[in-house]
Formats: sequence, structure tokens, C-alpha cells
Amino acid sequence: MEWLALLAETPLARALIVSPTVYLLVNAAHIMAIGMLFGSILALDLRLLGLFEKVPLQTVAVFLSRMAGKGVALAVLTGLCLFSVKPTEYIQNTAFLAKLGLVALGIGNALVVHVTPGWRAAVTQGSISAPLRVSAVISLVIWISAIVAGRWIGFL
Ligand code: HEM
Repeated sequence: MEWLALLAETPLARALIVSPTVYLLVNAAHIMAIGMLFGSILALDLRLLGLFEKVPLQTVAVFLSRMAGKGVALAVLTGLCLFSVKPTEYIQNTAFLAKLGLVALGIGNALVVHVTPGWRAAVTQGSISAPLRVSAVISLVIWISAIVAGRWIGFL
């Protein structure tokens, strides 16, 4: 735990601890990153589940998954900044640990989907296989749960 406590001594953590303005800006950036991630995931997964049929999947699939990827990267970056404020407390927070697990599951699910023939067919022909629809449902459940766990952190 000592090495974790050192995180709170870094200049970045000190800036978030002493300046409420810096903290709120980073927290707002975390929420915007989550919005970018979930907004893209929701649009893509609902399209894979057959909604918005007129929207060409070949066009939006790669665009939305890349936006989601950038959102995850920004959420992890800003999340680590927030985490650095009280790392030894957060690491014992059940909601925080649950969220990290769900985020890892969400990223894992997306990476697995991207190497499947189903994704290739969706991107090249716009066809949607049953396994791809199932992975869209799994993705929605995971990311909604991650957001609920994230909000729950402050209540524990
Ligand atoms: C990538 C997906 C992520 C999602 C969907 C997510 C979601 C959330 C949500 C919904 C909140 C509550 C925001 C608020 O009400 O102010 C939050 C807060 C927070 N997140 Fe994340 N987060 C993600 C990644 C991370 C990562 C990777 C970390 C750390 C390594 C992290 C650390 C935190 C911390 C420390 C808070 C503040 C908790 C508090 O004191 O209220 N987040 N996150």
C-alpha cells in the first residue's frame, strides 16, 4: 500500500487536492469521456440490435467503435487523475473495484468482437450475425453497470 500512498504525493495529485477548480475540471473531463464512450457504444449496439436500419452499418461501425475507444482512453486517463487524490481509500472501495472489473470486461468484450468474422462481415457487408447481436447486449449491460458502479463510488 505504501507505493499507492506515494501516488497522492505526486505534483498532479497535489494540484487536484489543493485546487477544487482543478478537481472539478478533471471530474468534468471524466464525465465527458464517459459520455463520449457510452454515447458511441449505445448508438453502435442499438444499430447492431437492428434499430436505425437506414443508417449504413459499414459507415458507422468503425467510426463509432473508434470514438468509443478514444472515450475509454480519456476516461482511463482522467480516472487515474481522480484516483491519485485518495488511492489507498479508493482501492478498498467495493464500487471502485467493481467498476475497474467491469471496465476491463467491457474493453475485453470489444477487443474479442473486433477479431471475429462477424465484425468483419458487419464492417464490409453490413450483415449482422446472431453472435454479434449477443455481444451488443453484453456490451450494453457491462457499460451501463460500469457507469452505475462509478456513480456508486461516492456513496460508499
Ligand atoms: C473507462 C470507463 C470508466 C467509466 C464508465 C467510469 C465511470 C465513472 C462515473 C460514472 C463516475 C462518477 C462521476 C461523478 O459523479 O462525479 C466516476 C468517478 C470516478 N472514476 Fe471512473 N470511470 C471509468 C474509468 C475509470 C478509471 C480507469 C479509474 C481509475 C483508475 C476511474 C476512477 C474514478 C474515480 C476516482 C472517480 C471519483 C469517485 C468519487 O469520489 O465520487 N474511473 N467514474
